[in-house]
Amino acid sequence: MTSIVASDIDGTLTGDRSALERLRDRFHRRRAAGELYLIMSTGRRLEQVIEGVAAEGLPEPDAVICQVGTEIYLPPFAEDTPPMDAWRRRLLAQYSRREALAFLEGIEGLVMQPEPYNTELKTSCYLDQCSDPERAATEVRRRVEPHADRYQVVWSSARDLDILPAASGKGRAIEFLVRHQGLDPREVIVAGDTGNDATMFREFGRGVCVANAQPELVEACRALSNGRVYFARQPYAAGVEEGLVHFGVLEAQL
Ligand code: GLC
Repeated sequence: MTSIVASDIDGTLTGDRSALERLRDRFHRRRAAGELYLIMSTGRRLEQVIEGVAAEGLPEPDAVICQVGTEIYLPPFAEDTPPMDAWRRRLLAQYSRREALAFLEGIEGLVMQPEPYNTELKTSCYLDQCSDPERAATEVRRRVEPHADRYQVVWSSARDLDILPAASGKGRAIEFLVRHQGLDPREVIVAGDTGNDATMFREFGRGVCVANAQPELVEACRALSNGRVYFARQPYAAGVEEGLVHFGVLEAQL
């Protein structure tokens, strides 16, 4: 049977290089045996994922979800690989960048993220220069709330705020991808560390919250009534490995 693992990258897989390399080798063996379909689900851009595989010890994925679930990529992975068109079109139908920007108007201290992280489907800023970042995030949420059929706010690490299409996010993107590939969504196990990973846990229930997770993710996971979240004792890749042993995806090693 093929297990499907969908993991965030930064702070979930990365953070402890030797633990990551051990996990990477285990992933590669399972993939070679046809027993694992590995999705990396990240806020990074595709070229940064490709660089990470070459230079940071990241495992080779079977699919990559970038920019917080607004872009889906299938192999072969290259810098000019286009995102999956069906997903892009579905999201474009509900998203206006101009409207998304309007939700951010007049928030004092707000700083827009660099251009590559602001795309036709993702409007992202930093709120850590605001006098009260939590209050600023709440204000943006309040403005977006009446338009929840088309937009969602993702708040992470007391710094990053994204306005995304309501139908996007990491959880929804994984679900779309898995069905598109003819795989079974019930096999998905997720792993993450910050607020932008919460939609994965909500969508699939089964997941690994690493020990270094931000409070917003821990809270979101605790609030899941039907969730079977494993709170790892170890941080980073060691925590992911620990959780995957818990779920029986990897064997315990003595
Ligand atoms: C990643 C993205 C950034 C986003 C953050 C939280 O760091 O690069 O654009 O705001 O995740 O979702």
